[in-house]
Amino acid sequence: MLTALSGHALLRAAFDADTFRVDGGTMLARLATNLEAALRGTSFAVLPLRDPAEMHARWQVDFSDDAPRTTRTPSQILDALTTRMLADATQLHHAGFVGHQVAPPLPLAALCDLTADMLNNGMAVYEMGQPGTAMELHVIRWMCDTLGLGHTAGGVLTSGGTLATLTALLAMRQARAGWDVWSDGNANQAVPAVLVSEQAHYCADRAVRIMGWGAGGLVKVPVDDRFRMRIDGLAPALARATADGRQVLGVVASACSTATGAFDELEPIADFCEAHGLWMHVDGAHGAALAVSGKYRDVLRGIGRADSVIWDAHKMLLQPALITAVLFKDQRHSAGAFSQDASYLLDTAHDDAWYDLASRTFECTKRTMSFKLYATLAAYGPALLDAYVTRVVDLAASFAALLREQADFELAVDPQCNIVCFRYRPAGPLLDDPSCDALQAAVRKAVILRGHFYPVQTRLRGALWLRTTLMGPFTTIDDLARLLDEIRLGGRALRK
Ligand SMILES: Cc1ncc(COP(=O)(O)O)c(C=O)c1O
Repeated sequence: MLTALSGHALLRAAFDADTFRVDGGTMLARLATNLEAALRGTSFAVLPLRDPAEMHARWQVDFSDDAPRTTRTPSQILDALTTRMLADATQLHHAGFVGHQVAPPLPLAALCDLTADMLNNGMAVYEMGQPGTAMELHVIRWMCDTLGLGHTAGGVLTSGGTLATLTALLAMRQARAGWDVWSDGNANQAVPAVLVSEQAHYCADRAVRIMGWGAGGLVKVPVDDRFRMRIDGLAPALARATADGRQVLGVVASACSTATGAFDELEPIADFCEAHGLWMHVDGAHGAALAVSGKYRDVLRGIGRADSVIWDAHKMLLQPALITAVLFKDQRHSAGAFSQDASYLLDTAHDDAWYDLASRTFECTKRTMSFKLYATLAAYGPALLDAYVTRVVDLAASFAALLREQADFELAVDPQCNIVCFRYRPAGPLLDDPSCDALQAAVRKAVILRGHFYPVQTRLRGALWLRTTLMGPFTTIDDLARLLDEIRLGGRALRK
């Protein structure tokens, strides 16, 4: 109970190091127990789904100076909240988490975030984040080298793939528009556009609209039967946009796409960009991580020729969100997004400002994102990430093979990474639903409510498909066979 304390004593108690030590120990013990249970995958629901209004009411709270603080200590309240939080949360370490592309965080990386949060070194200016800045530059170097972007490459860490895409496309505009957009704006010029596959993540669309290019700023290129950008669709799209009066600045390639994990063919896209003087941007938010896999990196052939790449470490590099790299083949462009005159970075090796990351990013105050990935690489080496990425992509191939053997399931496309889309197609109608869309939605809900799996869904070729992203480092093919059985169970329940 702290209500009797004066303001100053309250502050002293809130910053008491011994209390922090004890509370931290209690919290870590709970997190470790939760991790064990989640990895065992049996004791609780992956996603304890509740109606949003019910959840909102469940977390109704009294922030006033009355109860419950009058009857319990802050430590007790924190512990109770942690327990409730763990009970209500989506469990990403659970073997049945096959939902969205968010990493089951490496424990070591989560601990680094705690340290980063406690230090709260803002990184807006170098003096406010010296070790974070140094680590960030080393992490960025490792990422550039891993993708083969060359020795002039560089970039910055920022808060998520969506913001990273906007950062990269701002730099593209500044570099390729032919006038000083930073100073003069868009006035009295042809409106720019980029070419992008029909399957690209919406972050490209959002970036284009934020830049004021409107819906027409995104020129869609059709995809082939594997959901990859059609290379022979690029020239007609460029011609169409040009005829519409657009100034096409670049091509956004997906490596990979969100819905099906399709990798656009980067070599021919790079050739096309080179031939037409266009900027090549690669959305590698999810799939750039395949570069760490000795077995699968070939799918990214050509990425080293990109002008810019984004790469989310909170997807396939086992990091807690958010940590995204925006990488540039020529690191001078990294400052170009936010300044017309990037010349002060021209000679980065000798320039006074090479350590000042604020000029490269939206953020002023920025979390020390680098520590966790730096520590991951320092402690385990890239071998850990290779083992993880290779394992989940292998598992997707096995899952696809399993699906192909099932008469009552249909595979959307052979997976190129750890994303697998499929449909449940039992013989005989289960619902008054010729398209089978309602059936997919119903069985998905039924599966989630059973608690053992969390699949998601997506629309492909005009129909609804079940979608799994195999994120669990220990999920097995037997787990996935059980997922199919649970889908069948859900389907059977609809027959009654
Ligand atoms: C291909 C792709 N690009 C960009 C994003 C956006 O990244 P973020 O969620 O970090 O903003 C996603 C997210 O799923 C994605 O799959």
